[in-house]
Amino acid sequence: MHDTLLLFGATGDLAQRYLFPSLLHLLRDRLLPERFRIVAVGRTDYDDTGFRDWLRGRIDDGDARNREALEDVLGRIRYHPLDLRDADAIAAALARYADRPSVSYLSTPPDLFAPACRGLKAAGLLEDPSRLVLEKPIGHDLASAREINATLKASLDESRIFRIDHYLGKAPVQNLLALRFGNTLLEAVWQHRWIESVDIVVAETAGVDGREGYYAGYGALRDMVQNHMLQLLALIAMEPPASLDADSVRDEKRKVLRALRPMTAADAGRDSVRGRYGDGVVDGEAVKGFRHEREVETFVALRAWIDNWRWAGVPFRLMTGKRMPARATEVVVSFRPVSHWLFERPSRDRAAPNRLRMRLQPQETIELGLMGSLAAPEWGATELQPMSLDLTMSPTPKRRIAYERLMIDALKGDQTLFVRDDEVEAAWRWIDSVSDAWAEAGTPIEDYPAGSWGPASAAPFLPNVISGNGKRR
Ligand code: BG6
Repeated sequence: MHDTLLLFGATGDLAQRYLFPSLLHLLRDRLLPERFRIVAVGRTDYDDTGFRDWLRGRIDDGDARNREALEDVLGRIRYHPLDLRDADAIAAALARYADRPSVSYLSTPPDLFAPACRGLKAAGLLEDPSRLVLEKPIGHDLASAREINATLKASLDESRIFRIDHYLGKAPVQNLLALRFGNTLLEAVWQHRWIESVDIVVAETAGVDGREGYYAGYGALRDMVQNHMLQLLALIAMEPPASLDADSVRDEKRKVLRALRPMTAADAGRDSVRGRYGDGVVDGEAVKGFRHEREVETFVALRAWIDNWRWAGVPFRLMTGKRMPARATEVVVSFRPVSHWLFERPSRDRAAPNRLRMRLQPQETIELGLMGSLAAPEWGATELQPMSLDLTMSPTPKRRIAYERLMIDALKGDQTLFVRDDEVEAAWRWIDSVSDAWAEAGTPIEDYPAGSWGPASAAPFLPNVISGNGKRR
């Protein structure tokens, strides 16, 4: 395992909220090497002590069990104020850390990737076996993603580039693979013949809050669908890989992403809805709507089609939105009705189809909806009712921050949970088709009140998530 981490963007929001707390937990649990050191790089002009004091105030969670680890993390940090556009300054300040193989983690806007790479290369920090970790977004469309990937490859080989999608670091997301490929029961019916539709929902109560500048250039389509939601879709829809090694899994995900049918302007009206939250109430609190001079959506509902043998004709409905009434990340797989209905009660049209509902956040639960007569009186045994097989773990397991897992994997050199260049590009190709279709069709951005499930026109995209009375199923 490499034992030098260079963290660029060390004073940024992500570093404070997730990256340093993850390092703290890993050190507390003795999962990092003895000689582990952290080189923090940011724009603010601190010396080592100044940075440590600033960081202490941000990551001290008041938990006495973490006190020792907190001082341990801080003690391992050297801080360098640097402008990442200045390759010479990077090389002069950081070349001393090229004495050991390292991982450089760019938690910075994508326009800094290229200059930072030049500086790191000049410092000798990208020599084999050192590695580079990048945060999303990798560009804002296919052309810019290709440009970034080409720049990266001029400095180091793909086998040492780790593109983060933090959803892949979440244990419940990995459980999707475990469920699919660890159970004959599911894999046997995992295809168009038995499955009618798939819903993938990522609803957030949070708003854009303080990230207006970034968000206005991206919107929900580029911020959430291009990466997290298409990664979920790929894990659900991919063919079984021959093994769990990085390239076997990523080859299969890429095939799915490439099989996504591009959206056309003619499809846009039927297969998509865009929304933007206005003033409203979330969690009992009044919140302001999102306003920006750039017209951008905070909600999107899409119907995606995977044109391959397994999924022909099965709609994948994707919905994500900010300022929704509840935080919910879930996947709902709805099966086709049985071919012949034997029962008088209920009538065929009132029978609920089998449905597998996998809730990933905030709680992890798995429910399988079946029909049965368990609850009927003995003499009415042929009266069927919907029943739910509930596979909730109690208590819900306490999960690590996704970044803890990803940090460990990057330090060890395991790329399985990182996104490869061709996957990123395939995802952008589809996203570009949606955004071009919207532009050509003039798809409007419809307002919805904060605290609602998006514009009314999105209701047909959510039949398995929200019931007719507006309540969550
Ligand atoms: C980020 C997006 O990648 O994911 C944010 O930029 C979003 O807009 C976040 O809020 C959601 O992540 P999680 O882990 O809270 O579901």
